[in-house]
Amino acid sequence: MAGVVVGSSNARIGIQAAIDILGNGGTALDAAVAAVKLIEDSLDDNSVGTGGIPNLLGQVELDASIMHGKNLASGAVGAVKGYPNPIEIARKVMEITPHVMLAGEGAELFAKYHGFSTAELLTDEARDIWKSRIESGGPGEQKIDEDRFELFNKAVADWAKLLHKEIYGTTNVIVRDDNGDIVTAVSTSGWGFKWPGRLGDSPIIGAGNYADNRFGGAACTGRGEMAIRSATAHSVIMYLRHGKSLDAAVREAMEDLNQLADPFAERSNTMNIVAMDREGQVTAASTGDTATYVYQTTDMNAFEERTRTHVPLEGLDS
Ligand code: GLY
Repeated sequence: MAGVVVGSSNARIGIQAAIDILGNGGTALDAAVAAVKLIEDSLDDNSVGTGGIPNLLGQVELDASIMHGKNLASGAVGAVKGYPNPIEIARKVMEITPHVMLAGEGAELFAKYHGFSTAELLTDEARDIWKSRIESGGPGEQKIDEDRFELFNKAVADWAKLLHKEIYGTTNVIVRDDNGDIVTAVSTSGWGFKWPGRLGDSPIIGAGNYADNRFGGAACTGRGEMAIRSATAHSVIMYLRHGKSLDAAVREAMEDLNQLADPFAERSNTMNIVAMDREGQVTAASTGDTATYVYQTTDMNAFEERTRTHVPLEGLDS
């Protein structure tokens, strides 16, 4: 199949850029980074990059990872503050260091050393959402500046009440170029109001991101703790490796989530997977019944938005 891109629904912001690169003979790596970078820069999305919902302290902390299916090269950064394009930093980690993942101050030092520019990531809109939830509407109804640690204790004790659907996003794209190289890229501001330093699945290779040219690629959005515990992206690839069809591999990885005893799994749209097999066939699944994904090949003039296969978690209504 000609160059192909599949991604979470917010990947619509960057999918044409990826297709343009593939159409001009560019690589899956360049296409994946270009697509994700545009989503990171978009103010329309408050789950990724600039405009992301902040942590409990009101700081935007970003996570990202990238994996190349040709040689399983990987790079990731976690809990990075002040740098708007963590996907580019993750790529640099992959390309020039002996490491896979850098976090926090060390990742920021690396970004500074390599000349990445900084920016204010907290928009007025995100600050207002944070203020309304944490300062007035949050657990304990206590001002954050009165006694932060007291507030945090209450917040963590009553964690699930902080959740709502706008603060729980991520973006991912999987790109296959005409050489058959598959690259998976993921970026997020993580769980809105997360504990400072909390990492979800997005920067963790095998949890939120996995690519292997021999079998395909997979990436997750949703509550990262679930994908970490189930190694969800890697599971999809393992099921493909063991002969399952793409649809069956994704379904099996989703059904594995039922093994998690999870007192916080009260939201319906808790986990989502997009996946691509080695030939460029794609699919996606969600624990919610309305989630979509986007898909485009270099033969198409525009992306298609498709409904994900609904694989509900057992015990939840939808
Ligand atoms: N899936 C993104 C996160 O849990 O942070």
